[in-house]
Amino acid sequence: PASTKLAPSILSADFARLGEEVRAIEAAGADFVHFDVMDNHYVPNLTIGPQVCEAIRPHVQIPIDVHLMVEPVDALVPLFAKAGANCITFHPEASRHVDRTLQLIRSHGCKAGLVFNPATPLAWMDHVMDKLDMVLLMSVNPGFGGQAFIPATLNKLREARRRIDAHTATGGQPIWLEVDGGVKLDNIAQIVQAGADICVAGSAVFGAPDAGGGYHGVMGALRQ
Ligand code: DX5
Ligand code: ZN
Repeated sequence: PASTKLAPSILSADFARLGEEVRAIEAAGADFVHFDVMDNHYVPNLTIGPQVCEAIRPHVQIPIDVHLMVEPVDALVPLFAKAGANCITFHPEASRHVDRTLQLIRSHGCKAGLVFNPATPLAWMDHVMDKLDMVLLMSVNPGFGGQAFIPATLNKLREARRRIDAHTATGGQPIWLEVDGGVKLDNIAQIVQAGADICVAGSAVFGAPDAGGGYHGVMGALRQ
């Protein structure tokens, strides 16, 4: 759908040309840059940190959506805020004090969110709804791009949508619902139908064989 917000994950971009890559996705209509931070501790992979965030910041206007797959979490929050992050999400089981970490993120002027692995219960959000600006639902296990979408996520996504809608219907602040992992041309319609506001797409955007339209073409197709 045209209203679907797209957050290409630069995990699948060409790291040797990151500045160009983020400019290209912005020009092609991306709504966010999704920035995957892995620490070889919380997840068995190692990626990029605040210095890379700072390096790409001047290349785009769109918000940088930092997905922290790290443990512990708190020390990186001020570093990413200073590096120009706009949104910071973390996995609740990786933080000793979830409420405090959410407040810390907001106190640095960023949107704050929790990330739920496929097996992480949504109950983690119960007592912090008022401190959430976004919820990121993983539809693969975190750590790698290019994995297959886990179908059980669709029901969980509907459940997350219900919880968020119930919250806003009773006067709560808006909370974006974002889905991450295995989002492709052949499942994005279902994912949006089930309630996603924002879709992350890594390999579907950066790894797609160029069908002629480049990133414009790929993102246009994802929005159909
Ligand atoms: C996985 C990352 C995702 C990943 C998505 O741990 O959080 O953002 O880059 O890649 P695709 O879209 O290829 O599944
Ligand atoms: Zn991610």
